[in-house]
Amino acid sequence: MARLLTLVSLLSLSISPRVFASPCVAFDSSWNLYAFGFNGKDYNAGTSDSWASGTASDVTASGRPPFDGSNTTCYLSQFYNAIYVLNGDSSNPSNVHVYDPTAKSWTTQATSGGPTDSFSAILDHDTNVFYALTDSGELWFLSFANITTAAQSSAIAWTDVEKAGFDTTNYQPVMALANNHIHFLDVPGVAAGSADIFVIHFSYFQPESQSYGNFPAQHGQTTSIFEPANDGVQLAFAYIPDDGSATYIIDVVSNTTTSMAGPSTKDSSATYFASDAAIVQLTSSGAVNFIPYTNSSSDSSASWGSVKNLVSVAPTSSASSGSATKSASGSAASGTSTTSSSSSNSSSNGTSGMIAQSRSVVLGMMSALLLGSIALFIS
Ligand SMILES: *[C@@H]1O[C@H](CO)[C@@H](O)[C@H](O)[C@H]1NC(C)=O
Ligand SMILES: *[C@@H]1O[C@H](CO)[C@@H](O)[C@H](O)[C@H]1NC(C)=O
Ligand SMILES: *[C@@H]1O[C@H](CO)[C@@H](O)[C@H](O)[C@H]1NC(C)=O
Ligand SMILES: *[C@@H]1O[C@H](CO)[C@@H](O)[C@H](O)[C@H]1NC(C)=O
Ligand SMILES: *[C@@H]1O[C@H](CO)[C@@H](O)[C@H](O)[C@H]1NC(C)=O
Ligand SMILES: *[C@@H]1O[C@H](CO)[C@@H](O)[C@H](O)[C@H]1NC(C)=O
Repeated sequence: MARLLTLVSLLSLSISPRVFASPCVAFDSSWNLYAFGFNGKDYNAGTSDSWASGTASDVTASGRPPFDGSNTTCYLSQFYNAIYVLNGDSSNPSNVHVYDPTAKSWTTQATSGGPTDSFSAILDHDTNVFYALTDSGELWFLSFANITTAAQSSAIAWTDVEKAGFDTTNYQPVMALANNHIHFLDVPGVAAGSADIFVIHFSYFQPESQSYGNFPAQHGQTTSIFEPANDGVQLAFAYIPDDGSATYIIDVVSNTTTSMAGPSTKDSSATYFASDAAIVQLTSSGAVNFIPYTNSSSDSSASWGSVKNLVSVAPTSSASSGSATKSASGSAASGTSTTSSSSSNSSSNGTSGMIAQSRSVVLGMMSALLLGSIALFIS
């Protein structure tokens, strides 16, 4: 039972070995878009109606991670309205940083006994538990069931769940959370349009793959599409293959996939974070772009645009983006450009660090509410 309750998250990670500073983008529960680790600062770009002009608000506060880690990823705990950061501090990679958007404050949660190799992760919406799949193919969880918007004083231990239920040799995880299930795309031997599934509430790798329609069997990035406040768990996720050819929306209730325009910036090292109504791309050179999502027929003609109020503060603005574009990774914007930008400042503060790319997405969320009811859910 304890296992069942735990649930959660997954991860995904990424792939490339490059190392760059890792900014990340994330939404809070009111759908304000944050850009963390942009030239050593953090910004609130507001809701989508604020993105067309102006400058995002600087919300840099004490206690923040330096965003100099590898494969930094950010997650929204929707129920509690908290943003959690994994790998935000290269000196303390097992720490999880907790941002409270209401208080505009940071706390740091210590963890123990976690994986020793790199991993990709998701944050389960209903249980507030992270699930991570390591490069060696081991699934772990880290429960934030008792954490809301601030860390607790004692460390939280990771739990090794089990080996993945499929062969992970040479597998670069493509993980996505929706409907309390972790979906693994591009699994070796699994057909295009299908995913392998881990059922969080039962801590169970479903033996059969699930068909969801049409999308390629290609490595890529994912991000869960949230439902509006109080509407519960995510029911769909976006998948952007590395070639950027399209943005696929995979609805795990209807088992169908629809396709939207691929990002204008094709960047296999970009990362993504969705709200309930937009999918945001953070390129490896630090540019932030988005496409609106409405779950209606108009999505097929939607197009990508820039989050303009982040342009002047993005790492890319102070550095040349050139080489960065294809390089890196990641999670953020950081790529090469970051490095250069920091060189014009000092190399400290995070931006110049390293991080690799990761991709993955994350999503996450939360509530622990229902532990009791969780078991009912299932499926
Ligand atoms: C970042 O992720 C990539 C891909 O999983 C991995 O190869 C690399 O070792 C990770 N970096 C660190 C510092 O964990
Ligand atoms: C959460 O707190 C309860 C009550 O103190 C405790 O029994 C439980 O083990 C805690 N869970 C975790 C994951 O720390
Ligand atoms: C999209 O809209 C349909 C029709 O209202 C609904 O059944 C479905 O659950 C929605 N999908 C998501 C992901 O919210
Ligand atoms: C989606 O697939 C699952 C598993 O095969 C099935 O239980 C469910 O009924 C399907 N949904 C629809 C709308 O057909
Ligand atoms: C260096 O970066 C910091 C933080 O972004 C900024 O406040 C400062 O003005 C920069 N200094 C220079 C010389 O660019
Ligand atoms: C780098 O971070 C340190 C500690 O937060 C701060 O004191 C310093 O001013 C920062 N440097 C720049 C260039 O932002």
